[in-house]
Amino acid sequence: MNIEIQDDLFIEDIEGVKEVYHSVGWMKHTNDVIKQVFDASNVKVIVKSNNRIVGIGRAISDGVFNAAIYDIVVHKEFQKAGIAKYILNHLLGELSNVSCVHLISTSGNEGFYRKLGFRKVKTGMARYLSSGLHDEYLE
Ligand SMILES: CC(C)(COP(=O)(O)OP(=O)(O)OC[C@H]1O[C@@H](n2cnc3c(N)ncnc32)[C@H](O)[C@@H]1OP(=O)(O)O)[C@@H](O)C(=O)NCCC(=O)NCCS
Repeated sequence: MNIEIQDDLFIEDIEGVKEVYHSVGWMKHTNDVIKQVFDASNVKVIVKSNNRIVGIGRAISDGVFNAAIYDIVVHKEFQKAGIAKYILNHLLGELSNVSCVHLISTSGNEGFYRKLGFRKVKTGMARYLSSGLHDEYLE
């Protein structure tokens, strides 16, 4: 597959990014939400194939101690072709000097991150506003 990457999100890309989120059922990602979360992320990757957005990833990093990876999402039609692995490796390359890179996998995708070297955090903690997410992700 012919692939190009962008390190930033442009206004004209927002509809394509929304299609990626919506293809996997993440329907809360409206144009405004997408702009907000990408504007707030200082490490971004947009993957295009033949000018169509097929995958995205983003991270927030302090550049030294900590970074968090969010939203590695590949369009449903383009999954199982190595695109998520490419996105994660690209983000990790950008974060190569950061001491700790953490993330929370969505349910069922832990094996993807495990394959690429991530391990469970002994003291990891989180709090969620949504009771559904609280029940799904917290002990
Ligand atoms: C999880 C997701 C990003 C994987 O994307 P993908 O492009 O199909 O993954 P890749 O093809 O790059 O897979 C890379 C490797 O991880 C493995 N892998 C992918 N998904 C996996 C899973 N759920 N469990 C275990 N292994 C998985 C693949 O088999 C492949 O292994 P290989 O290198 O030995 O062949 C994709 O299914 C997705 O977008 N899901 C919905 C959004 C989501 O939940 N994202 C995670 C947010 S934390």
